[in-house]
This record gives sequence, structure tokens and C-alpha cells, in this order.
Amino acid sequence: MPLPGTRGRLGSPLPTRGRHARAVVGLLGQGRPDHRGATCIGPATAVAFARQGAAVVIGDVDDRATETAELVRQAGADGRFVRTAVTVAAEMDNLVRTAVETFGGLHVAFDNAGIFPPTVPLLKQSEDDFDRVVAVDLTGVFLAMRAELATWYKPAAAPSSTPPPSPASSPTTGLRPASRPKHGVIGLTPAAAMGYATAGIRANALAHGLVATSMTRGWLDDPEMHDSVVGASPMGRPAEPEEIAGMVMFLASPLASIVNGGVDPVDAGQTAP
Ligand SMILES: NC(=O)c1ccc[n+]([C@@H]2O[C@H](COP(=O)([O-])OP(=O)(O)OC[C@H]3O[C@@H](n4cnc5c(N)ncnc54)[C@H](O)[C@@H]3O)[C@@H](O)[C@H]2O)c1
Repeated sequence: MPLPGTRGRLGSPLPTRGRHARAVVGLLGQGRPDHRGATCIGPATAVAFARQGAAVVIGDVDDRATETAELVRQAGADGRFVRTAVTVAAEMDNLVRTAVETFGGLHVAFDNAGIFPPTVPLLKQSEDDFDRVVAVDLTGVFLAMRAELATWYKPAAAPSSTPPPSPASSPTTGLRPASRPKHGVIGLTPAAAMGYATAGIRANALAHGLVATSMTRGWLDDPEMHDSVVGASPMGRPAEPEEIAGMVMFLASPLASIVNGGVDPVDAGQTAP
């Protein structure tokens, strides 16, 4: 496995190219280099799948995600960007349809799109901010799961294939409005996992701690914020996007064939009991 720090540990979780090539729908984020040369969770995951020979279909509201598709192609796989707002059901459906029509199927989905409004106390939160975050981080995950399940779940001939690892969630903070939709995602995940397990469909949520991406750049670059956010990690550092990608790859692989319906912490031990 060619992810930094994980080489050889996970083996080759995905089938190789050809008839059984994997199409991955990721709501993955743009491929711009982030601070310190890092990239974001979406591009890191797209490249990780590409290195395993998976075709990757990328949906994002930001056209700069075409750069992620280019990174996928540079890694030797098929990459396709489809401009998609996760808040619009028809666009989500179109994203999934593109995967099926272009690459012959959809086998893994990583519902990773999210926004991060200003961190303010609840009394200062505006309704607009709250509604915006709920629309992207909760309704968007619902629309994504619905579109994905619609292509996987065929009651007459249930799919036997692999696993949708599902959405990122971070129930670790108390003030920002982003935390509420994430709790909704934790509720949606078992609904998909329990409802479709007998069809061979799995759904899991990732609960990230701090990850060094464009989303957290403001905190990490601010000398006052830096120590408090990094200090919350028992490992004394943020995760790198590739470390989140490693967990996604594991959940998407046959190695995780019995892992279903959970909220999996990927947080350096921050939420350990
Ligand atoms: N970075 C962290 O510390 C951290 C911690 C916990 C959870 N997360 C979650 O991980 C996910 C990825 O975050 P990241 O840090 O890589 O940040 P990011 O900002 O690079 O990625 C989020 C992506 O979602 C896209 N997006 C936003 N609204 C959208 C919409 N309506 N439709 C389609 N795409 C949309 C953005 O364009 C962006 O590319 C997010 O859901 C975030 O909430 C991140």
C-alpha cells in the first residue's frame, strides 16, 4: 500500500483494473497543495485509491477539484471530475450515474464534502450559518447516501460487492454549528448500515480529530490557537490527510468486511475513554 507510513500493511485491498475495476465516488475537495505542502483529505484519498488501480469519480462544488482528477490520472488511474453540489439531489444522482455509466459501476463511496463556519459561541451563531452547515454536512450526506444506495441496493439481485465507507464526522467540539450535523451523520450511518447489511452494503462514519488541511490552516497558522488545538491531541500533532485516507482504504477493503455501522475514531486517541 503506497500511502506514507502504511506501505505493506494493508496489502492490496482493491481488485486491479479490468473488468472489476473499482469506481469510487468521492466528494473529495480540491487538489491544491495546502499549507506546508500538504493536501486535503479528499485528494489524499483519491490518490490512495488511484494507486490501487481504482477509477475515481470526484464530485465537488469547487471546480478546482479538477486538479484532484489530474492527480488521479498522474497516479495512473482513471479520474473524472463532475461538478456537484451535495445539497442538490439531482446533482448527486448525476454524480453516481456518471460513475456507473463511465466506469461500469460504483463500489465505494466516501462522502467527505463539508464546510466549516466560523468558530463562535452558540449565542453568536446566525440562523443562516446554521442552515448552511446543516444543508451541506447533514442533508448533503443524506442525499449522497440515498443516491449511492439506490445504485447498490437491488432487492431482486442484491449486490455482493464491497462496502461504502461513509462520512466523515467530528463530534469533538461544542461551540461551532458544524458539530450538530455531524451528530446527525452518526445517526444516518447505522440507518444505512443496518438497513442494507444483508445486501452486502456496509456504512461507517469516520470521526476525525484535527487534520492538517486548508480547513484548519487558520488555526494551525495562528500562534495562539495552534497550541490549544494541537495540544488537544494525545500525539501532540494533527493528522495528515494521508492518515485519514489510510483508514478509508482499510474500511473499503475486504480486511474490514465485518466492520459496519460504527463511528470509527481517527483522532490520535483524543476521544479514548
Ligand atoms: N480538517 C479537519 O481537521 C477535519 C476534522 C474533522 C472533520 N473534517 C471533515 O473532513 C471533511 C474534509 O475536510 P478537509 O479538511 O479536507 O477540508 P476541505 O475544505 O479541503 O474539504 C471539503 C471539500 O468539500 C467541498 N464542499 C463544500 N461544500 C460543498 C457542497 N455543497 N457540495 C460539494 N462539495 C462541497 C469543498 O469544496 C472542499 O473541497 C469535511 O467534511 C470536514 O468537515 C475535517
